[in-house]
Amino acid sequence: MDILSIESSCDETSAAVVRNGREVLSNVIETQIPIHIQYGGVVPEIASRNHLLKISSVVDEALNKAGITIDDVDKIAVTYGPGLVGALLVGVNYAKGLAYATGKPLVPVNHLLGHLSSPLITYKDLKPPYMSLVVSGGHTYLAKVLDYTTVEIVGETRDDAIGEAYDKVARTLGFTYPGGPKIDKAAKIGDKNKVTFPRVYLEKDSLDFSFSGIKSAVLNYLNSAKMKGEEVNPDDVSASFQEAVLEVLVEKSIRAMEIYDYNKIVIAGGVAANTRIRDMFDKKSKELGIEVYYPDFEYCTDNAAMIGCAAYFLPSIENPLSLNANPGLKL
Ligand code: KG4
Ligand code: ZN
Repeated sequence: MDILSIESSCDETSAAVVRNGREVLSNVIETQIPIHIQYGGVVPEIASRNHLLKISSVVDEALNKAGITIDDVDKIAVTYGPGLVGALLVGVNYAKGLAYATGKPLVPVNHLLGHLSSPLITYKDLKPPYMSLVVSGGHTYLAKVLDYTTVEIVGETRDDAIGEAYDKVARTLGFTYPGGPKIDKAAKIGDKNKVTFPRVYLEKDSLDFSFSGIKSAVLNYLNSAKMKGEEVNPDDVSASFQEAVLEVLVEKSIRAMEIYDYNKIVIAGGVAANTRIRDMFDKKSKELGIEVYYPDFEYCTDNAAMIGCAAYFLPSIENPLSLNANPGLKL
């Protein structure tokens, strides 16, 4: 089963060919980061226009790299939400057109289920059930993965997503978009004990998160240091911020595993590329004997391979032309 998959929910135009849900024959990612960097974040209208410019060549390249033609493809899969509506529509309409013209089945895929499926590419024997932590620019979820397509949320952010917190704090420190990787790098040389930022656990036993307070805490720290004429070291602030948010993420993940009696956890989404989150989970894995799975770095941030992987287990829709983008789609 060869699936041609398309992803355009944010600022990556991507197409992939995935065989039997696990073997990636090609995964072409055309990132728009250099375009959005000057605005400090993704500009939706510019994102849609650039998806439109690139989508056709990205799909052709994915087929070429896989060494197949559109005739050899068994199904077409596409991200239909959540994401930026204009960006999603480019991929959705392209996939609909392709499905209609070729008569191939069309499989709509939830972007978040795509992220959750990304470790399956790396770990060929990994099978649900497992606990999962989805940490991306737009989402933060703790969810039980019951089987390949059934997910039950047990905790989520009540305000900002974790990646959003990284990006916002990075901006206040003068780092360019996307800030996550820059904070990750700066934190390696910074002192994580320099500033004690609040750890937000919410109510006792809650598996929910809140990350909007920490950006104000960082901003307050920067302003008060400025007023006192103290020098601020962005590496130390990065390390201290990161420690505060990741400590909560890891603690709550472990708590969720204990409550629901899971021994395996999958970490997915852009922030799963973070080196400190991996260190922390690896330490817990040794201490507690739990199994922790991450996607390869290539499959952490947005890519079409994870969409093709998820699509393998999902049904196609009867009438491809009926598909619409759903920007607020839930996990
Ligand atoms: O999954 P993704 O590509 O897009 C969404 O679906 O949102 O995630 C992008 C997010 C951005 O907020 C980016 O700053 C963050 O992932 N990110 C990181 C790292 N690499 C990407 N955050 C922390 N450390 C990293 N190494
Ligand atoms: Zn994503």
